[in-house]
Amino acid sequence: MKEKLSGRFIVLDGPDGCGKSTQAELLVNWLSERGVTTSRFRDPGDTDIGEKIREILLNPEHLSMSTQTEVLLYMAARAQLWIEKIAPALQKGHCVVLDRWLSSTCAYQGWAGRFGMDKVIDIATDCLERIWPDVTIILDVDLKTAQQRLNRQLDRMESKSDGYHKKVRDGFLKLAGQREDFYIVDAGRKPETVHQDILQLISEVSFK
Ligand code: TMP
Repeated sequence: MKEKLSGRFIVLDGPDGCGKSTQAELLVNWLSERGVTTSRFRDPGDTDIGEKIREILLNPEHLSMSTQTEVLLYMAARAQLWIEKIAPALQKGHCVVLDRWLSSTCAYQGWAGRFGMDKVIDIATDCLERIWPDVTIILDVDLKTAQQRLNRQLDRMESKSDGYHKKVRDGFLKLAGQREDFYIVDAGRKPETVHQDILQLISEVSFK
């Protein structure tokens, strides 16, 4: 497992309320217990610049923000995260576990926001040294279950309409259907069951 996962780039993504952060934590603990040096980051965030961009993006006062602005800000935070944190960690041979990535911009802005997934990918290709992780795991959850889990004050993105969030889920499933390096896990179940599925999947994946 140590050899297999060193220098690998694993993304957990999915709709709000899918439980990515819990799953990322469980996965990182499991990897660390097996001697895999792991770095965990969240996108957007985890750099000084990225955290400031995150605050602008999620601030509920910024209701007038356009989808185009969202695309550029998410991409800017990501470019900084790549250069400052992800690339150096991968170079050191760490296994990088990331909470969200380009797949989110495809599903939220590209599909639900109607910007266009292909246009999102084109911009990413121009801005990022590397756009696709080794593996992307989409934690799929229906809107009702997701909403029950978001039992707190919602940020600007979470506050968007039910219709928007339904499309976000469709966007993730659509993208996963197009890519061989994407896997879908049913995240509507108990965290431990989902965790076991993720471990199974990672042990079965043959990295290119
Ligand atoms: P998080 O709270 O899961 O870290 O994500 C922040 C919010 O930003 C969440 O509602 C999803 C949204 N988002 C996008 O709309 N586009 C993106 O590219 C990313 C990374 C997140």
